[in-house]
Amino acid sequence: MRLDKLLSHAGYGSRRDVKELIKKKHVLVNDEVIRKVNIKVDPKKDVIIVGDKKVDYEEYVYLMLNKPDGYLSATVDKYDPVVIDLIEGYEHIDLFPVGRLDKDTEGLLLITNDGAINHKLTSPNYAIPKTYYAKINGVVTEKDVEQFSKGVILDDGYQTKPGILNILSSAEVSEIELTITEGKFHQVKRMFKSVEKEVIYLKRIQMGEIKLDNKLNLSEFRKLNEKELNYLSSL
Ligand code: URA
Repeated sequence: MRLDKLLSHAGYGSRRDVKELIKKKHVLVNDEVIRKVNIKVDPKKDVIIVGDKKVDYEEYVYLMLNKPDGYLSATVDKYDPVVIDLIEGYEHIDLFPVGRLDKDTEGLLLITNDGAINHKLTSPNYAIPKTYYAKINGVVTEKDVEQFSKGVILDDGYQTKPGILNILSSAEVSEIELTITEGKFHQVKRMFKSVEKEVIYLKRIQMGEIKLDNKLNLSEFRKLNEKELNYLSSL
């Protein structure tokens, strides 16, 4: 990999900024002062130092965001704020959200620059379970549990795969957890619509083996820990 690309990716500014650092002899590779921008380095083997700091290069970044209401699951938008706006300190990396949560849905959203992992977590072929907590306008009953376990028919005629519905409290406003293995547009909201109920609050709490960290306030994010990364590597 080209040294200037690596340093730019590692947060040392644009390629032009990096060129400047190299020109000023601030960059060492394996104890040698570097004078050319276009030399190739192996980030796994070569020791790269800028100033007096060793460069820790990570090709891929994996973050967990507690998405707040009001943000689009997108990288840019003309009108609305997007989740990537919340990821401060990573502006030099082309991050994107893994799948989509609706603008008003909160909770677990993974953010990465790893397209392969994005594919695995969102592709129907992998059928990664996603668990949501929701408040429902209406009394959720065992009949709904039964119907969801067989799959329900959405407003466009699509028959969903089975979902595991767990009633936490059943009242005028019920609280539930629902685990599904698909991600059709507005799927949870439309599944409840099919049983004549309305989702009034929705939050994703788990994706595969990755659980939303309850220490993260809304809008906060953190890097995935080793256990979570091992899970991603196992996919
Ligand atoms: N289902 C929905 O209806 N909305 C989401 O944001 C996620 C799942």
